[in-house]
Amino acid sequence: LFLGDESELPNPGDYVTRTMGGDHVIVGRGDDGKIRGFLNSCRHRRMPLCRADAGTTRRFVCPYHAWTYDITGALRTTSFDQHYQHFDLAQHGLVPVTQLATYRGLIFGNWDAQACSLDEHLADKKWYLDMLFARTPGGMTVLDAPQRWIIETNWKIPALNFMDTQHAITVHKGPMTMGQAAGAPPLDVIAKIADGTPQVCFPQGHGLVTRAIDPNMPEFFGYPPELVSLYKQTLPHDQLAQFRTGPPGVGTIFPNTSWIETLLGVAADKPPTIFFNLRSWQPLAPNKIEVWSWIFADKEASAEWRAESYRVGLQTFGIGGIFDEDDSEVWASVSRVMQGPMASRQFMEFSAGHSTPPLEGYPGPGTAYPSLLSEHAQYGFIRRWKQMMELDQAGSESL
Ligand code: FES
Ligand code: FE
Repeated sequence: LFLGDESELPNPGDYVTRTMGGDHVIVGRGDDGKIRGFLNSCRHRRMPLCRADAGTTRRFVCPYHAWTYDITGALRTTSFDQHYQHFDLAQHGLVPVTQLATYRGLIFGNWDAQACSLDEHLADKKWYLDMLFARTPGGMTVLDAPQRWIIETNWKIPALNFMDTQHAITVHKGPMTMGQAAGAPPLDVIAKIADGTPQVCFPQGHGLVTRAIDPNMPEFFGYPPELVSLYKQTLPHDQLAQFRTGPPGVGTIFPNTSWIETLLGVAADKPPTIFFNLRSWQPLAPNKIEVWSWIFADKEASAEWRAESYRVGLQTFGIGGIFDEDDSEVWASVSRVMQGPMASRQFMEFSAGHSTPPLEGYPGPGTAYPSLLSEHAQYGFIRRWKQMMELDQAGSESL
């Protein structure tokens, strides 16, 4: 489960509070520079220890009876130590997130000690993530605190939607047409290019759609030239070749983290701009999620370009983003109608392009299929989810 980005915790003592399903956790950086995660619940009467979204601290003092913990989760004092005879402070630290690991600055947590490592879980997907998070020497940085909003839908619907290109052409017809006004390719051109652009699936349930590049556009259209020269210096030859012709535009990291990096413009008087948005779909209930949404930029990007990229990102993919408004209405409607006694017994359909074999000779890892308009990646996600739902505890080791 995605917890945040290291750039949110630049200094010792920095922390953020996040959720892992129904659990609230603190993620903080210690004096040793190490990032740790803990249940945000005091060991005494289980009071939530920290009520802020983010901050910098030396100590977390529980609001109930003042048990006091440091940023490594260690209990320093109960404030009434003389009354706790035979009590070992060292045995009463905060409950740590069982597996906490980072990849290219992205922090993930898992409560299951038997689950595979983050490295094994991301597997071949890392090759593509590097084109986003390791394409400059500094990597990516978050531009602000995450936006958060609630949608009455099941978390899997948006996770699937971030591998769904058909809907981009239909549901988003309005904003896509506005993009056209700002210089992006016309909708019919996008649809045609999308049909010849690959999507990639991974056995771990991840999927991605490569970005449909209009061959009539200049190379690396939408990125500032100073960043393009860094990409060329930093990315290995094979990844640069992929980034040039089919960058990882939209995708889902199984289970509930998705991203989009694309070229959009919503102001007719300004050229379209690349932005990068990462979000997690936090389940609050079977049909209720909280979206956590971060906008990132390459660390080396100029202040002007960051500001423009942030503006376009928020106006398209954010709490008031014109694309999110289209999407959330659809996602909530699907969840609403599927609660009907008859509707809840019906199945969804994921067969578009299913008889098309994988691309032969595709240069990247993963299994690639030739069209963005097929549903292979979504099918792979739902198949993986079904596998995990059917596992008993003994089976989890074999994953
Ligand atoms: Fe935290 Fe009592 S619940 S000190
Ligand atoms: Fe959408």
